[in-house]
Amino acid sequence: MRLRNVKNAKVIVSSHPLVIKNLNQNTFVNNNPIHLEIGTGKGDFLIGMASAFPNINFVGIEKYESVLVRALEKIDELPNNLRFMKIDAREIDKYIKVKIEALYLNFSDPWPKNRHEKRRLTSPNFLALYETIFAKHINIYQKTDNKSLFAYSLTSFSKCGYTLKRVSLDLHKEDLFNVLTEYENKFSEKGETINYLHANKKI
Ligand SMILES: C[S@@+](CC[C@H](N)C(=O)[O-])C[C@H]1O[C@@H](n2cnc3c(N)ncnc32)[C@H](O)[C@@H]1O
Repeated sequence: MRLRNVKNAKVIVSSHPLVIKNLNQNTFVNNNPIHLEIGTGKGDFLIGMASAFPNINFVGIEKYESVLVRALEKIDELPNNLRFMKIDAREIDKYIKVKIEALYLNFSDPWPKNRHEKRRLTSPNFLALYETIFAKHINIYQKTDNKSLFAYSLTSFSKCGYTLKRVSLDLHKEDLFNVLTEYENKFSEKGETINYLHANKKI
């Protein structure tokens, strides 16, 4: 998702008080657990989660300013427990200097062509990169409408030594607390079911 011609997006993003360059021990005023979302888009999920869970710190990573600016526009009061980073997920080990406790991958780009496998956010190379930002237990939560990406992810997590703690082919029928993302809203309005998994690994 890339929105074109968003006036001043670069300036707005780089000067916004919730946008950080590095995630380190001084980012938040407390030592609460940190949850990360990669591919935050226009922010609905993370803004909703930060409001629902004030004792968890949330950080959203988005690679396009033109998208991130839309998330920032939705924020009136600055929450203590919410930050954003304008970086590519491939660089997380350079910019994340603390350990996180959970990672959300919501409606990630599916990259259907085989030659683009390494760009999928659940490919083994990304799973190896995520190990650098977790301490002892990796917890990854994925939601997607895309059945091929979901099947690929299930295989990838299993191959890489993860336990699948929960798997659903129709998340909205489950008894689970769920904050909707922009894409989730759009797809479920069209009648699509949402695939969901929670993958866990001890390192
Ligand atoms: C399909 S959209 C989904 C947005 C949102 N998570 C949702 O569910 O509505 C995927 C988002 O991930 C971002 N993205 C894709 N690859 C990324 C990467 N390598 N690093 C950071 N953001 C990425 C895109 O720019 C886009 O905003």
